Amino acid sequence: MHRVTASAEASEPNAMPLLGFKSFQSFGYHDTQVRNMDYERLFALAKPILEKNDLGAAHTSRVLAIARKNFSIPAELEDLTVAAIILHDIGGASIKDQYEKGPSMAASILQQMGCDKAFIEQVSAIVGTHHDHPDNPSVPFRILYDSDKIVMFSPEEFLGYDSREGFDWNKIVDLPYSEKAKTLARKMLRQRRKEKSTCAS
Ligand SMILES: [Fe+2]
Repeated sequence: MHRVTASAEASEPNAMPLLGFKSFQSFGYHDTQVRNMDYERLFALAKPILEKNDLGAAHTSRVLAIARKNFSIPAELEDLTVAAIILHDIGGASIKDQYEKGPSMAASILQQMGCDKAFIEQVSAIVGTHHDHPDNPSVPFRILYDSDKIVMFSPEEFLGYDSREGFDWNKIVDLPYSEKAKTLARKMLRQRRKEKSTCAS
């Protein structure tokens, strides 16, 4: 069975299963946790839409793996957190599309999953605001937000941002809410820059 044994930054392309849900134990999933939702089915429903985004559904899998690896998700918030992560980029490639189309698309998928109205509203609210930086976000929002920032420093995504003119990594490393995420982002940035200089020499 594939196992993620090091920090998320150690992942290499294809090292992380795109449909990571059969490997939940690798990400710290324990049978004792509450698990009401069929995450694999949810991902299957979202995947065709996510694949239209620049980074595809692989980005979604990476964000979820980072969340499970680096943050403790309260058992009672696991469904909300995982659903928000799986659906966060569902509306399209741009933030505008994600905000305008994402909540209703997320709601439609969750309705197919038989989720109740209150749950759907909570997930949709996160999907429609996940690039915002509220002062006191919910735990699911914060875990998604921090993981969605850390993933930018992954080997698979770093160079795409790094090649943008004027892109300021120093601003990105300070965005996460948790100190753990900030520290990990800085460490991953050093690693990516080291790899870059090694390749250039
Ligand atoms: Fe994302």
